[in-house]
Amino acid sequence: METKVIDLLKKRRSIYAIGKNVTLSDEEIVTLIKGAVKESPTSFNSQTSRVVILFGDAHNKLWDITEKQLRNEVPTEEAFQSTKAKLDSFRAGYGTILLFEDQDVVRGLQEQFSLYADNFPVWSEQGSGIASMNIWAALTENNIGASLQHYNPLIDEDVQKEWDIPSNWLLRGQMPFGSIEDVPGEKSYIDDEGRFLVFK
Ligand SMILES: Cc1cc2nc3c(=O)[nH]c(=O)nc-3n(C[C@H](O)[C@H](O)[C@H](O)COP(=O)(O)O)c2cc1C
Repeated sequence: METKVIDLLKKRRSIYAIGKNVTLSDEEIVTLIKGAVKESPTSFNSQTSRVVILFGDAHNKLWDITEKQLRNEVPTEEAFQSTKAKLDSFRAGYGTILLFEDQDVVRGLQEQFSLYADNFPVWSEQGSGIASMNIWAALTENNIGASLQHYNPLIDEDVQKEWDIPSNWLLRGQMPFGSIEDVPGEKSYIDDEGRFLVFK
């Protein structure tokens, strides 16, 4: 039995201690992300995922935008300091991947296949999840750590303005990535019993 895929999935973790010591070139990282997204399955092969890859100043800008928005949301200065520390840990990374879903495509599918109208938004979300996971795995294979963040919809408007993002692209997640500077603690698992049923 081959377990290379499972081994890679096991290796993938949420890596919060990320740095800038990445050995891959920006072009290689872009190639990896493109490959991971293009090979991700989507309902009706609708390929709804859209991706923005931020390096350098653009990466910093994203976390500045997030900090600015959160400053208005967090009730006390003390609470903001812990939020800021978290944002600084993302800023310490090498880049950030923004994951969007194209709502024009989703709406078009709803009109074209009205029988499944309710399903297309759900399938779009699933497609985003699959694309995120495949990017995460491809980065992991190359010893790049990442985590998945959700500061949308708080940052949507600023992000759209900053990078002239089409208004039909809906932000679904942010994946800061970088060199792995510290490994996470051991992961716990719920019991298999009651989780998996096998019949013959
Ligand atoms: C759909 C989804 C949403 C998540 N959202 C966040 C998030 O907003 N912030 C965060 O720090 N981690 C987020 N995570 C990471 C999970 O907390 C993490 O995957 C889980 O605790 C298991 O840890 P592991 O990734 O190290 O295996 C998300 C994961 C998934 C799959």
